Amino acid sequence: MKALGIDIGGSAVKGAPVDTRTGRLLAERHRIATPKQLSPLMMARTVGEIARHFQWRGPIGVGFPGVIEGPRILTSANLHPRFIGCDGVKLFGKATRCRIALINDAAAAAQAEMKFGAGRGVTGKTLLLTLGTGVGTALAENGVIFPCELGHFPWKGRSAEKHVSALARDRENLSWAVWGHRLGKYIRALEALLWPELIIIGGGISAKHHKFFPHVTTRAKLVPAQLLNGAGVVGAAVWAVRRQD
Ligand code: BGC
Repeated sequence: MKALGIDIGGSAVKGAPVDTRTGRLLAERHRIATPKQLSPLMMARTVGEIARHFQWRGPIGVGFPGVIEGPRILTSANLHPRFIGCDGVKLFGKATRCRIALINDAAAAAQAEMKFGAGRGVTGKTLLLTLGTGVGTALAENGVIFPCELGHFPWKGRSAEKHVSALARDRENLSWAVWGHRLGKYIRALEALLWPELIIIGGGISAKHHKFFPHVTTRAKLVPAQLLNGAGVVGAAVWAVRRQD
């Protein structure tokens, strides 16, 4: 079973063909930086470029950083506002001439981590957070993945992600200790509502977990994502194959 997984992020689009039985990448990941906010059409071209790079003809899973309802993108907090209301399946389908399955980026990462990574074999309530330009969240229990938007939990009059994302740390030039403490406060607020037994932290910054985990106090066990930043690509591919069943 093979699918192309594509992860659309705030600063880059990444893709790779994936063996969805093992979660292994079948070729080196192709990454295209997107420094400016791309319009939906330009983004579709970029996604098309990734499919062409691999001369792909099969199913494609696309992880998008927004609320997904069927084929539609309902929100776009950190990408171009014209994505709101867009039919993503049509948009990316036209650009790649392949069948598209669309999924929220954090839900994609959760698919991969629960199947092949830090959540493998865990059946209890798990909360996955991806820390990047925004904060992505998904819950998992007993093989079911539930996409959430807890990055938009109200915090000091704004979305929590504005205070605790990896971008917020960069923007405010926060030390690992200050940012980790802030992140811990946010996670404990989520824990009071959700009571997960395991919390998985993903996103590029999870590679530096040893720098900030000592400052993040949680009730649940806190672990870094095992597929690190690759979970989005693998999970999107898994989703594409699942949607075919
Ligand atoms: C979006 C989520 C997304 C997260 C991480 C948030 O701003 O609303 O849908 O999962 O960023 O990319």
